[in-house]
Amino acid sequence: MKKILITGGAGYIGSHTAVELWNAGLEPIILDDFSNSHEHVLDRLAEITGKRFAFYRGDCNQRELLDQIAQEHQLAGVIHFAAFKAVGESTQQPLAYYKNNLGSLLVLLEFMQDKGIQNIVFSSSCTVYGQPDVLPVTEATPRKDAESPYGNTKKIGEDILVDYVKSKPGIRVVALRYFNPVGAHPSAKIGELPMGTPQNLVPFITQTAAGIRQKLTVFGNDYDTPDGSCVRDYIHVVDLADAHVKALRFLFEKTLDFYEVFNVGTGRGNTVLEVIHAFEKVNGLKLAYEIGPRRAGDVVKTWANTTKINQVLGWYPKFSLEDCMKDSWRWQLTLDTK
Ligand code: UD1
Repeated sequence: MKKILITGGAGYIGSHTAVELWNAGLEPIILDDFSNSHEHVLDRLAEITGKRFAFYRGDCNQRELLDQIAQEHQLAGVIHFAAFKAVGESTQQPLAYYKNNLGSLLVLLEFMQDKGIQNIVFSSSCTVYGQPDVLPVTEATPRKDAESPYGNTKKIGEDILVDYVKSKPGIRVVALRYFNPVGAHPSAKIGELPMGTPQNLVPFITQTAAGIRQKLTVFGNDYDTPDGSCVRDYIHVVDLADAHVKALRFLFEKTLDFYEVFNVGTGRGNTVLEVIHAFEKVNGLKLAYEIGPRRAGDVVKTWANTTKINQVLGWYPKFSLEDCMKDSWRWQLTLDTK
């Protein structure tokens, strides 16, 4: 069984990807510092898969730890999730973001080169497109100046990988540009665990429905969209996890010094109000919400053209927006009873 190092493997997307890798016959080796995740996720992964994955605690800037992992496991590839991802925080602590998100990428690439590990999947984001001039967004859509240090780390991360591959180091790279990951594992054993007050829409919705937050504020209803609220492409985290499996399989078949980028979204845009109504309908609940002012820096509308990932990786999403809302709520309910 091929072993894949998952940095940030106890996190939201990393943990779901660990499950999908295992289901696909690949063995996850998890590295996480729990800076935005919890130890109990490892137990949950064992409950879901019946397998306790090898785990290392630390961050990817620790080269000795990476060396130890390579000594104990023959790695066929790396999926690099580990990164800070709070837009607002990144404007307050830019150096921490550049150090953690880009420093770790450099250490990881040097490590891979030294150990002859040839495959990497990099977590990028639709944030690199900013507000696109033409929708839906294809991979050829020009990237825009980043709105935040966080966004810039994703853009620069891609640039580093492109330049690195050009130098012919003997590596293959897929960068996946995620749209808006939501939902949770249908078992409700793993999901998103936001620290403090959630900044993202869906955790805020579920915490409001659970009574943890008084009400949700819809950030603006006077945009040029069907109902005036912003449009995003919401993708179920299990579908997103599956895209990583497909990306790895694709890499295994490629010649060396290869770089490719894919959008990972559903190809469908939904407004904030549509998301709220889907949540209410599928769960039979009324959500307390009000219309508030626009959020500074918000993109008005973005959604993916998914032709490339459909055709090249053979990847298609299986979950609907309603599935996302159902699974997010089931996950929130397990948190309430803890
Ligand atoms: C945000 C970041 C994006 C980053 C992603 C990581 C910005 C501008 N973008 O994406 O770069 O990759 O998080 O998770 O911060 N909304 C409300 N009320 C709320 C929360 C959100 O109406 O309480 C709306 C927002 O205005 C937006 C939509 O819900 O239209 C989704 O927001 P969010 O979940 O924060 O994601 P993005 O802004 O798309």
